[in-house]
Amino acid sequence: TERSLVLVKPDGFARGLTGEVLRRIEAKGYRLVALQVLTPDLDRLHVHYEEHVGKPFFEPLCEFMSSGPVTAVVIEGERCIEGFRALAGATDPTAALPGTIRGDLGRDWGRKVQENIVHGSDSPESAAREIGIWFPEL
Ligand code: GTP
Ligand code: MG
Repeated sequence: TERSLVLVKPDGFARGLTGEVLRRIEAKGYRLVALQVLTPDLDRLHVHYEEHVGKPFFEPLCEFMSSGPVTAVVIEGERCIEGFRALAGATDPTAALPGTIRGDLGRDWGRKVQENIVHGSDSPESAAREIGIWFPEL
């Protein structure tokens, strides 16, 4: 069985959407393995987003992600990496399909960072790496 790292990003946390995201994860049938509320520091985010180093949105993204509390969650279930990506919807919340977390709950707020409520690991390798960053005890 597979594990994935999910983050309710600062926009989702501030809007009170953590429970709604967890509800959808549980309703889908995935288990919650670990959960923590924290404000991540930039060092952790630079490692988490290392695939995006050098892109124009890298620093604004890390600044945004460190701007307030997030909820970090490890979920578990067969094919939950792919499954949570499907629940989350497309990266751009304006284009994300209704029925998805980003499509139902997200929009463009005219700010420089693409605020899209959640993060989910995109491969088994990413999931293992990211779980190690957020939950080294697991
Ligand atoms: P995550 O689950 O957060 O990793 O989203 P993703 O896998 O759908 O997107 P990706 O890993 O490609 O990018 C990580 C985050 O960077 C996204 O969730 C957005 O917040 C932001 N981002 C990605 N692409 C762009 C872009 O082209 N412009 C801007 N401004 N932000 C972007
Ligand atoms: Mg990604």
